[in-house]
Amino acid sequence: MPGQIIQREYLSNGEMKNWDGEMSEVSSPVCVRTAQGLQRKVIGAFPVCGTKEAMEALDAAMAAFDSGRGEWPTMGVADRIQRVEQFTFKMAAQKELVVKLLMWEIGKSYADSVKEFDRTVEYIHATIDALKDIDRQSSRFEIEQGIVAQVRRSPLGVVLCMGPFNYPLNETFTTLIPALIMGNTLLFKPPKHGTLLHYPLLKAFQESFPKGVVNTIYGRGADIVPPLMQSGKINVLTLIGSSKVANELKKLHPKVNRLRAVLGLDAKNAAIITENADIDLAVSETVLGALSFNGQRCTALKILLVHKSLVDEFLQKLSAEIAKLKFGMPWEKGVNLTPLPEPGKPAYLKDCIDDAIANGAKVVNENGGETVASFVYPAVVYPVNEKMKLYREEQFGPVIPVIAFDDLSEPIDYLIESPHGQQVSIFSNDAHEIASLIDPLVNEVSRVNINCQCQRGPDIFPFTGRKDSAEGTLSVVDALRSFSIRSLVATKLNDNNKKLINDIVNNNESNFLSTKFIF
Ligand code: G3H
Repeated sequence: MPGQIIQREYLSNGEMKNWDGEMSEVSSPVCVRTAQGLQRKVIGAFPVCGTKEAMEALDAAMAAFDSGRGEWPTMGVADRIQRVEQFTFKMAAQKELVVKLLMWEIGKSYADSVKEFDRTVEYIHATIDALKDIDRQSSRFEIEQGIVAQVRRSPLGVVLCMGPFNYPLNETFTTLIPALIMGNTLLFKPPKHGTLLHYPLLKAFQESFPKGVVNTIYGRGADIVPPLMQSGKINVLTLIGSSKVANELKKLHPKVNRLRAVLGLDAKNAAIITENADIDLAVSETVLGALSFNGQRCTALKILLVHKSLVDEFLQKLSAEIAKLKFGMPWEKGVNLTPLPEPGKPAYLKDCIDDAIANGAKVVNENGGETVASFVYPAVVYPVNEKMKLYREEQFGPVIPVIAFDDLSEPIDYLIESPHGQQVSIFSNDAHEIASLIDPLVNEVSRVNINCQCQRGPDIFPFTGRKDSAEGTLSVVDALRSFSIRSLVATKLNDNNKKLINDIVNNNESNFLSTKFIF
């Protein structure tokens, strides 16, 4: 970063408001040498607003929705799409700075930061195409039992949107954009690590949407979010984070029936590597699955269950492949392992490893777990058992716990007893064996991957989870459904009503009751 970025403003009610109160310093995971040793480099600061500003933003979002009468919720779909296209154009102009901030704020490699930005832009384009499709299907009347009706998807109201630090742009926008384009108004709280990178986009929001449609809230989540929920004015809570926080927030809403939740939560995806697996393939997919972005993906492989007959060979090959990974700074070409953004994470991972060692495991790869300031070298920990934190806790970092099993019932039981239910990977080349795992496991998790790592994409596929892993489904199309509700206009099919409907449609009197076709 050439200089610091000091953000002294925030977007609320269509204005970039100045902030001269408390600020939060942004420390990069990238460390620099100082007289006091290695220290996180300070790259900027952002406002720590309070409850007052959060409630003002809520009022702005409420006013923009105006009980469904606002300009945005009543705007025709084609016009809303045009505004989002305008936003995307302005967003693209900020790519260089946003990518740079992604690297510096969360330590994501340059290549992956570019990928995150591009994937987000592609997601917005795909969302626009999907909405056009939905709208085309809705631009007609249906007649059933003498009733004529037009069914469309309508917005839900005010959405509180909070994204995660590991995909601060992409995952935030996979909820924010669908919520927005469906006609809702938004309160948007950027993640704690990954806040500044949204700053260059605030003007684009301000210029592309009517006032109060997108409002940012900054500050300590524990202070500003509870009053928003307690107000009863939030219609949708969308959060990619922990199930603990999601549960606490939902309970604060005075009328839970009025609250829709669209949540991506905890996960501890397992890889089951059977005696019929191609070990080399299982190793290469495990390296990708467990260590991409240092294991900080909700979809990461966070525990491996390996058949006893091949566990030794697997561990040896896995350790050898890890040794080939390049570690370094996010901007270095070909880098795989980078510093971690959460200041407490190295100590937490050490605690997990120490706990495993105290309960009989070893770190089996060379240098595994070695830590220098914000950097933690990947550790393969074996054999893991149910007494250890690593057995159930979502480590969300570069530690790979491995369990050996004799019988396939053991990994199935592990998943049944797990509080998580996002995805699983099965490595085997025996069709009968794979089939015997698929049938029980599709009812435990929401995606079973065969001979490949777990992942969210392609974004057109449903992304969800069971148990404590998710609520609602996100994909390009599902997200549009999650942030809207079907409403219909219906009447008895008689001459009088036919004439009324024809008049409304032919004179373009309504944006809802309309047969306009978006090309
Ligand atoms: O952190 C969870 C992300 O949704 C994972 O997405 O599988 O494409 O890395 P990904």
